[in-house]
Amino acid sequence: MICLISDRETDFRFTGLKKSSLIKPNKIATIIKSRVVYRLGNLTPGLLDNLDASLLALLRVGGRRIEKESILIPYGRQWIDDRDILEVVRALSSDWITQGPKIEEYEKKVSGYCGVKYGVAVSSGTAALHAACFAAGIKPGDEVITSPITFVASANSVLYQGGRPVFADIQPDTMNIDPIEIEKKVTSKTKAIIPVDFAGHPCDLDEIKAIAKRHNLIVIEDACHALGAEYKGKKVGSLSDMTIFSFHPVKHITTGEDGMVLTNSKGFYEKLKIFRHHGITKDPADFINKDLALNHNSKVNPWFYEMQHLGYNYRITDFQCALGLSQMEKLDSFVQRRREIAARYNEAFAEVKEIITPIEGNNVKAAYHIYVIQIREDMLKIGRNEIFKTLRAENIGVNVHYIPVHLQPYYQKKFGYKKDDYPISEKYYERAITLPIFPKMRNEDVENVIKAIVKVIGCYRRNS
Ligand SMILES: Cc1ncc(COP(=O)(O)O)c(C=O)c1O
Repeated sequence: MICLISDRETDFRFTGLKKSSLIKPNKIATIIKSRVVYRLGNLTPGLLDNLDASLLALLRVGGRRIEKESILIPYGRQWIDDRDILEVVRALSSDWITQGPKIEEYEKKVSGYCGVKYGVAVSSGTAALHAACFAAGIKPGDEVITSPITFVASANSVLYQGGRPVFADIQPDTMNIDPIEIEKKVTSKTKAIIPVDFAGHPCDLDEIKAIAKRHNLIVIEDACHALGAEYKGKKVGSLSDMTIFSFHPVKHITTGEDGMVLTNSKGFYEKLKIFRHHGITKDPADFINKDLALNHNSKVNPWFYEMQHLGYNYRITDFQCALGLSQMEKLDSFVQRRREIAARYNEAFAEVKEIITPIEGNNVKAAYHIYVIQIREDMLKIGRNEIFKTLRAENIGVNVHYIPVHLQPYYQKKFGYKKDDYPISEKYYERAITLPIFPKMRNEDVENVIKAIVKVIGCYRRNS
């Protein structure tokens, strides 16, 4: 017999079950006090389709939801405390709302943390990628190699400059772009590589930089997942020609929305600054139209500026930077907490053979922006989609990162990419589930996620 169990009779209105199916009181109702128990006599596929996801889980797993609170445990979430709020209020009460002193202070804080000379803060991680492609000189006809397993922004930034994103498949263990595949994709048109430190695990940067050197390419590292990560003892941010961070609320620290490009190159730095402000320069030494710039005494007109490139308004506000500065104080403890949660998951799932847990290379310290497990469908009675749905019904806010970019309709239509073009990425995608991980996550939440995984996998393992 299969039972649906709930406190509320109304939960069953979608099932189409008749009152007569209600068993009360009976043995089960006595065990599970004050709950309503329905017996499903003749299940039809149509009946199941109409079931709310949470009931579906109860039906299939046959238990109660692990997470009893009505809200999902999200996969990621910011942590803003009173000190952060105070700093933002202070900034709002100052003379500057937008282009004030906090911006440079924030840029110096992040670049200093990573051990890099320059930082340019912009309005999002996407804007940072776009600005880096501009600074790298990407133009129509140029090719840029990146990973299919990333957020679309990594590839889109190339398109914004008229270039062509070319994908190289990933390594099956780290899910990072595979240097061997990169080398295969290099052509005379290739200008840059955008490796993505997926989930916060740094790529094989030495190998990627060696390829870049051989072919004279620029490396723009998309480290939106990897603030606080390390590669061979060095902070991510200091290792590539340009490195991108995002400060979206699910990332390691947040300002609401912004991004940053870090670089040791003065040339890139100057281009990035101009790009975020409409392509405009106010530096007299750079003016092209000297006759317009100078007055009859050969002095520069005080109002003068020149737009020399097509730039954008990618600026960030002073009060966002005040928040960023305050959040930076907590970055190390935030990363540490993420690592603790990842270690607890690794330990708890060591015995769950039906899932593959993330690895961490010997020479890196991963920052665990996300924690992705892969489902061994060959060992389970149901597939990833079903497991996902059941975990959501357990109030675990699982997610999937990412749909391979080459399978997005825009990319398929524009470049003819199709299924099976990147088999390792596609196989990974079919099995991936992102579990909650964020610094403010309580130990109790972590244990609830573990219990839900153990319960759901246990219920569907093939030999059970
Ligand atoms: C790998 C990667 N690149 C780029 C971005 C874009 O960052 P933003 O959302 O700040 O524009 C994201 C954001 O999720 C990301 O995960």
